[in-house]
Amino acid sequence: MDLTLNGERRSAEVDPRMLLVEALRDAFGARGPKIGCLTGDCGACTVRVGGRIVKSCLQMAVAHDGAEVQTLEGLAEDGALSELQEAFWDAHAFQCGYCLSGMLFAAGDLLERTPSPSDEEIREAISGNLCRCTGYDPIVAAIRSVAS
Ligand code: FES
Ligand code: FES
Repeated sequence: MDLTLNGERRSAEVDPRMLLVEALRDAFGARGPKIGCLTGDCGACTVRVGGRIVKSCLQMAVAHDGAEVQTLEGLAEDGALSELQEAFWDAHAFQCGYCLSGMLFAAGDLLERTPSPSDEEIREAISGNLCRCTGYDPIVAAIRSVAS
């Protein structure tokens, strides 16, 4: 199976029964997407495929042969954290970090569509991502801080 993973052309052997999240982690070595519920509820496995955020536990890997995929590892540019990553860091918007990948992708997707979201819109945008650690308020504050 071939992917453009975080801007790099990659090939790997993938079992046809593998979910996309399993292939990304086990065949392509991307550890950003996490395996949580495997039912589409927690958002820990979120990645970008062809520019759209998807829950990669709900996708068969082979269905995305040739796709362009971005994982958490692809958010930093030239080793520097993105503005959103810096904001999460500054606001203490994660603790264990299990939800972080999904939260960052959900937040980035929101800010692309709605550069100045209300708190209600922020909470709606991250509602498909579960966090057990933060109580969500620091996450909302981090996203608000980069909204224009
Ligand atoms: S592991 Fe995919 S949504 Fe929970
Ligand atoms: S920081 Fe632990 S689940 Fe969100």
